[in-house]
Amino acid sequence: MKIAVCPGSFDPITNGHVDVIERALRLFDKVIVLVGENPSKAATFSARERVAMITDALKRHDSRVEVDHFDGLLLDYLKRKKATIMVRGLRALSDFEFEFQRALLNRQADEDVETVFVMTKAEYSFISSSVVKEIAMLGGDVGRYVPQVVERRLKEKFSKKLL
Ligand code: PNS
Repeated sequence: MKIAVCPGSFDPITNGHVDVIERALRLFDKVIVLVGENPSKAATFSARERVAMITDALKRHDSRVEVDHFDGLLLDYLKRKKATIMVRGLRALSDFEFEFQRALLNRQADEDVETVFVMTKAEYSFISSSVVKEIAMLGGDVGRYVPQVVERRLKEKFSKKLL
């Protein structure tokens, strides 16, 4: 069974992430969507909230998708799960440098781990969790960019902040 781990901050998950995960499901038997911690970004949603939103957004795939959280090194998580494939989405050339560096660092640390890049649908190539949060925070409509559960949670989170 080919298991792929798809790590990210998912703060929150967007339709672009869902598209990448669904493409990965065409390539692998099982995809573990891993909420990791990016030390250079302060998260808006807790790990528990992010896991809950992802689980809801992907519930139609239930048995082939697992959602988990880990706050250590990705390679340690892969070892623990006996997985050797990491999937990352690519939106535009601007993502490349960051991804290239990490893929090669991870390969140097563990030759068995392969990073596989999946291109997002063009219509999602300009979406990011940060820009979605910015629009939602200022009262804009993000319905076309995120799963319904995320739209609802963003409204709850930011309506409190604007009061
Ligand atoms: O969605 P993001 O913010 O691009 O995801 C980044 C994430 C969580 C995948 C990255 O910060 C990460 O890999 N965190 C785990 C720590 C780790 O393994 N760092 C070494 C990478 S070479």
